Amino acid sequence: MSSPRQINNIALIGFMGTGKSTVGHLVAEHLNFEFLDTDEAIESRARKSIAAIFAEDGEPAFRRLEAELIAELSSRQRLVLSTGGGLGANADNIASLKQHSLVVCLWASPDTIWERVRGQNHRPLLREADPLAKIRQLLAVREPVYKQADVLLSTEVRSLKEVAQQVLHHYHDVRPRTR
Ligand code: S3P
Repeated sequence: MSSPRQINNIALIGFMGTGKSTVGHLVAEHLNFEFLDTDEAIESRARKSIAAIFAEDGEPAFRRLEAELIAELSSRQRLVLSTGGGLGANADNIASLKQHSLVVCLWASPDTIWERVRGQNHRPLLREADPLAKIRQLLAVREPVYKQADVLLSTEVRSLKEVAQQVLHHYHDVRPRTR
């Protein structure tokens, strides 16, 4: 029999360019929780950029670093996690996050994502001849796993500030305010 969930944290998952970092900062500030970006944590531990990890060690090594980091966070409290786009596309990571976090997936269409990320070049997976096709392909594969989140929020129809308010609303549903 599995024990009931202890939801002490919020984990934002979803594809690149869905606003996880911006929303995460807003939510953390509002709740006075610590904000942790998994990409930044991995880069600081590895002392190199994600692009360098992909190039020098390979994507599987990066995925292992993600899974290790998630496993280490299980005892933490009052944390808002913004996760790399591939982290929440792994069912084991979602199951691990669900042990302590409300898992919220931020969503956007491939075209919107492409509009948001096209000016940036730090993401190794989008260094492709046809990045939009790559976004479509990755999103199609990842969608069933992203949908294992507790909450799915579109970032197309509301501002990121409104998305943050929605996240807070869902969090207070499972963790009512004590005062
Ligand atoms: C990735 C997303 C990136 C980063 C890495 C791989 C992915 O994070 O973890 O480039 O597989 O979708 P963001 O979602 O923060 O861009």
